[in-house]
Amino acid sequence: MKESVKILLSAGQIQQRVTELAEEIMRDYNGKIITMVCVLKGGIIFLADLARKIRGPVEFEFMDVSSYGDEAVGGKIALNKDIEGGLEGKDVLLVEDIIDTGNTVSFICKHLLAKNPASFRVCALLDKPERRLAAGLTVDYTGFVIPDRFVVGYGLDYAQRYRNLEYIGVLSFEE
Ligand code: IMP
Ligand code: MG
Repeated sequence: MKESVKILLSAGQIQQRVTELAEEIMRDYNGKIITMVCVLKGGIIFLADLARKIRGPVEFEFMDVSSYGDEAVGGKIALNKDIEGGLEGKDVLLVEDIIDTGNTVSFICKHLLAKNPASFRVCALLDKPERRLAAGLTVDYTGFVIPDRFVVGYGLDYAQRYRNLEYIGVLSFEE
């Protein structure tokens, strides 16, 4: 089967939106140190661009999770790598590539909130609200709301590929 990628969000559109998100974040944090927690691997491109648009102090933390099992019942999420520092008293911004069912972000929020940050917000580049299963999820900053399609690029992969595309596209398969 031949894979093809049809552009959904251009590099220019993404960069413009990332700049807007950074402006919003800077206004809200108002010079406080932002502890940006990146979810590997999909979040790294977004984190790298977003952080460079923020004028002011930021710190980076990285964590990795994987999901398996029946997503309808919350899935099973495994923590592959925890962050290295503590979050006590820190102003934490979770940086995610995409929120789909919301199960992953729900798990990560619970995990990080247990570390007693002073404040906690979520920033997701993409949101597919049609697929939401997790209840009571708050997303403070959203880049783009997209339809229920499988997308790749700008950090997002299919079988570990396409993460390096500058744009985001819908992946399809042809015979
Ligand atoms: P959730 O737990 O269903 O919200 O799934 C979130 C995770 O699934 C994301 O962090 C991605 O790793 C992956 N994912 C969901 N939708 C897509 C997609 O369209 N393309 C690539 N990865 C996706
Ligand atoms: Mg992910």
